[in-house]
Amino acid sequence: MEKILDGRTLADKLNSQLKDDIEKFVGKIGVPPKLATVLVGNDLASEVYVNIKHKTCANVGINSIMVKLSTNITKEQLFNEIDKLNGDVSVHGILLQLPLPDPLRPFTPEFLEHISPIKDVDGFHPINKGKLFDYNEELAPCTPKGIIALLEHYKVEIKRKNVTIINRSNLVGKPLIFMILKRNGTPTVCHTSTKDLDQCIKQADILVVAVGHAKFITKDKIKEGVVIIDVGMNKVEGKLCGDVDFEDVLEKCRMITPVPGGCGPMTVAFLMQNTFTAYKKQTTPKN
Ligand SMILES: NC(=O)c1ccc[n+]([C@@H]2O[C@H](COP(=O)([O-])OP(=O)(O)OC[C@H]3O[C@@H](n4cnc5c(N)ncnc54)[C@H](OP(=O)(O)O)[C@@H]3O)[C@@H](O)[C@H]2O)c1
Repeated sequence: MEKILDGRTLADKLNSQLKDDIEKFVGKIGVPPKLATVLVGNDLASEVYVNIKHKTCANVGINSIMVKLSTNITKEQLFNEIDKLNGDVSVHGILLQLPLPDPLRPFTPEFLEHISPIKDVDGFHPINKGKLFDYNEELAPCTPKGIIALLEHYKVEIKRKNVTIINRSNLVGKPLIFMILKRNGTPTVCHTSTKDLDQCIKQADILVVAVGHAKFITKDKIKEGVVIIDVGMNKVEGKLCGDVDFEDVLEKCRMITPVPGGCGPMTVAFLMQNTFTAYKKQTTPKN
């Protein structure tokens, strides 16, 4: 049995299939899909992430534009930029790169709510969050979608399994709860105030870790045969690593995602999928 949940290879496969689907659709509609990313300030990591997204867009046949704004932009100016993209019929998806610079950060929910829900390819608008509550994953957040796709591709059963998620953010933990429930798994969500974290980790058949601390999970903490999804992205001595001590747990776990090459490429692949979904909805005439 394969031990490594290879997100890189699966993402390449999904992107290649998507490229064909987009080509066929564009043949009928005439206009290509377009994603607009909004980048505020000069955060280096954010720039790297946005560039990866644009590069993948080009590979699958999605046009993309980057709206780069100064750190000193006002709240009103950012609202105006979002309004412009909402009103631009050639733009089908809008992504506001987070985190925003300090002065704007407290208003993040307002900005996300300002993005038209049909162009909300990150799945952060309250309407799309509400739909997920009803198990509609059409425009749901990309990282949890990627996690589910990896588990399903490698035939990891979710039904009747204990799924421990160490993260409660809007990006990972919260949306994942509904995706696990939809598939009849039993999610346990942990965070910094969880009383018995060690016990929650030990009971996991599937363990999703997204805390942002290297080597947070070691072999003494896990149950034999657990499937581990390592979402974390940390830089240690200039090298990218996850939250799990990969070498340490490798023998004891049943399956594990590597970092890099696990959840990262799957997240970008699902951004592409969401953009295509948003595009189809906006370009297909309603009967
Ligand atoms: N691969 C990808 O595509 C991808 C996508 C998204 C995020 N990430 C990575 O995933 C990690 C988390 O991202 P995020 O945006 O969700 O971060 P975040 O908002 O800071 O969430 C971190 C979560 O971990 C919990 N946590 C932190 N330390 C803990 C501890 N000692 N014990 C128990 N829980 C603890 C926090 O609990 P509290 O809520 O109590 O603070 C919080 O729920 C980061 O490394 C990020 O780079 C990767």
